[in-house]
Amino acid sequence: MKPLIDPFGRAITYLRVSVTDRCDLRCIYCMTERMRFVPRPELLTLEELARLCAAFVQRGVRRLRFTGGEPLVRRGFLDLLHEVKRHLGAGLDEITLTTNGVQLAEFAEPLYHAGVRRVNVSIDSLDRDTFKRIARRDRLAQVLEGVDAAERAGLKIKINTVALKHDNAHEIPDLVKWAHGRGFDITLIETMPLGEIDEDRTDQFLSLARVREDMQSYWTLRDIPDRTGGPARYVRVEETGGRLGFITPLTHNFCEGCSRVRLTCTGRLYLCLGHETSADLRAPLRASAEDAPLQEAIDAAIALRPKGHDFVIERLSQPATERHMSATGG
Ligand code: GTP
Ligand code: 5AD
Ligand code: SF4
Repeated sequence: MKPLIDPFGRAITYLRVSVTDRCDLRCIYCMTERMRFVPRPELLTLEELARLCAAFVQRGVRRLRFTGGEPLVRRGFLDLLHEVKRHLGAGLDEITLTTNGVQLAEFAEPLYHAGVRRVNVSIDSLDRDTFKRIARRDRLAQVLEGVDAAERAGLKIKINTVALKHDNAHEIPDLVKWAHGRGFDITLIETMPLGEIDEDRTDQFLSLARVREDMQSYWTLRDIPDRTGGPARYVRVEETGGRLGFITPLTHNFCEGCSRVRLTCTGRLYLCLGHETSADLRAPLRASAEDAPLQEAIDAAIALRPKGHDFVIERLSQPATERHMSATGG
């Protein structure tokens, strides 16, 4: 089957699948305390999700990343992985997961058996009170147990940390030292204006250009060309020997080489994280057991793909999209 190429010549080789918009945390930059989640009847079944993944693999998608909300709160998630696993080595190179780590202690081993070799774990603070303030839940201990279990299970771990001016700015060097001390990569992320939250994002926004400048007063950061297929730019911290990534959607535009599209748990395909353009794949999926209508719908969706996102710092207090990160999974 012919590969997926968007109107700007970019090949689509990476699909992020949000299996649920639900989560067992309520991070302040991501959600409100009282989120309204997708009603269960609107969710794609696990079989439907597996069929969609297969359709994309047929069209040249080589990497699948499962996200949420929190993917591990979706019942039957491991069954989905076992279903998708059969594409590994048959078009698919990798199955990965982005998780908040809360349930990782229980799931680390089974994930490895389901073909996962790398997980990204979100940790915004190593201080119990700060973690609790940011995540609105007291779960740091579980997350750290989850990280230990993942390591024991043989999973490669990358830490994601959202940089927040008031809550964790002072702690970032310690997080980096901790991650590198454990042999993990760590990526810092700027807050992105996705969905309504309770706080003002302009107030929380911390420019990673600033963070980097500060770091350079006490560390030697060497640019390295490593790319993971993601938007992060990496440096090597000479003093710790570890890799540090920066995801700066607001201060650096990285859309030129973007190979990824995102599927929500209701079957909507988003063509860009920071853009409302999307297409419904649930209707064509349900309309026929044949794959042809679905493949046509995928082609029509990719033809709509915008050139890039339009996040602007000045407009940070206003969400660029109505949808929360938890709907599209980052
Ligand atoms: P790999 O590069 O595959 O390791 O993963 P990743 O860093 O892309 O994945 P992860 O799920 O850990 O994503 C980290 C965060 O990067 C996401 O939650 C988003 O905040 C951000 N991000 C990922 N992809 C994009 C993108 O295409 N555009 C923008 N603006 N941000 C993205
Ligand atoms: N801006 C930036 N990062 C976000 N995340 C969730 N919401 C936002 C946002 N509005 C992060 C999580 C996790 C990753 C999947 O996305 O902390 O690390
Ligand atoms: Fe849950 Fe991730 Fe959102 Fe935090 S950032 S509330 S862990 S989906």
